[in-house]
Amino acid sequence: MEKRSSFTGKLGFVLAAAGSAVGLGNIWRFPYLAAKYGGGIFLLTYIILSLTFGFALMVGEIALGRKTGLSAIGAFKKVNKKFAFVGWIVSIIPMIILPYYSVIGGWVSKYLFAFVAGDGHSASVDGYFESFISKTGEPIFWFVLFISLTALVVILGVEKGIERVSKVMMPILVVLSIFIAVYVMFIDGAWQGVIYYVKPDFSKLSFMTVVAAMGQLFYSMSLAMGIMITYGSYMKKDVSLERSVHSIELFDTGIAFFAGLMIIPAVFAFSGGDESALGKGPGLMFVTLPKVFDTMAGGQIIGALFFILVLFAALTSSVSLMETVVSILADKLKINRKILCLIVLAGCILIGLPSSLGYGVWGGFKILGLQLLDFFDFISNSVLMPVAALLFCIFIGYFAKPSYLIEEIELNGKFKMKGLFNVMIKYVAPVCLVIILVSSILDVFGVVKI
Ligand code: PFF
Repeated sequence: MEKRSSFTGKLGFVLAAAGSAVGLGNIWRFPYLAAKYGGGIFLLTYIILSLTFGFALMVGEIALGRKTGLSAIGAFKKVNKKFAFVGWIVSIIPMIILPYYSVIGGWVSKYLFAFVAGDGHSASVDGYFESFISKTGEPIFWFVLFISLTALVVILGVEKGIERVSKVMMPILVVLSIFIAVYVMFIDGAWQGVIYYVKPDFSKLSFMTVVAAMGQLFYSMSLAMGIMITYGSYMKKDVSLERSVHSIELFDTGIAFFAGLMIIPAVFAFSGGDESALGKGPGLMFVTLPKVFDTMAGGQIIGALFFILVLFAALTSSVSLMETVVSILADKLKINRKILCLIVLAGCILIGLPSSLGYGVWGGFKILGLQLLDFFDFISNSVLMPVAALLFCIFIGYFAKPSYLIEEIELNGKFKMKGLFNVMIKYVAPVCLVIILVSSILDVFGVVKI
């Protein structure tokens, strides 16, 4: 049998997993949610969730993958046949996310092109973003380009594709984000935004803050979709699992934090303190950052550099999404991998088209009152992921038993957060997940407003 390839050492593993985790979720999604759901209170909720809930889930998923040496479907089945269906639920999620993720990846490509072509100033003008996404052909062109690039990387293979790119790009992205965040702080009127972003205002704490932070946690850390199980299956036994998870979390949350610090204060600066500008949603990054670059000396170049790094971060994530989809299908249908990649590519283009058109000619078509892209985002993040995470917790907590995974984690020394892991997986996480799931569904059906 072919030996499973593995990542080289802790750094290789952490960078590869961080390559999947750090992406549009951190730079595009986190800031607009933080802006919308109360700033500092969202940030605080997110950090608390990430250190408790996110930590336990990520350790659990990686340990399950490493222990079984299998990806999601195989891993659940190996431990308990009755839970094989969880592997299936988990596997559907990347199939839903990848197409609309690539639509946003297409937007990033378009902005990169604008800056490279020296057209960054036009991108900073009000209405540029709205006019772009409401067109028909252009966003589709960029979307198809992005997803095709993703498919190309996948055809090149796991280590070559993911590890090499993220090793170089990730550190540069961190440094550039810090630089931009510091620059923004000194723009007139931005300080008010810094305060909004870092100082928790408890009167803004709502149920939706927690729901949104939880959905964001899954999305950003690539949890509850089988990815980390697969990554665990590639992880060497002599690498510390617990410490690796701390490093991935630090990376992931750090980049999200700085992305917020780049964008939210800039929103204040350019809107003259008008808080309604915070509710812009998915367009926030695209509308705000070009304005920042426009005020900078050398802003064209910095803007181009920024969008190319974001594009790479997005690509490493979309590659990991496509990898997962392709390997799931490859296990089931004995079709040549390259051909499968092309089939997945075609499928994604087909499924992604409505998300792209949803901002333009199909704008009138809504599901549950949501734009198509927002609907796919809602179904995956607020429904399927909590369901998958809940089943995972029940599976580990009561069927496989936490000790099954703790053994694996302790192969590399004492598991310091063992108590937290146990309590989170068995009690806290399942209860919170049920509450969150029920309330977010009731909210969208308009039964209660939370
Ligand atoms: N975690 C990625 C991000 O924050 O952009 C998105 C993602 C990538 C989700 C890969 C899921 C995944 F499997």
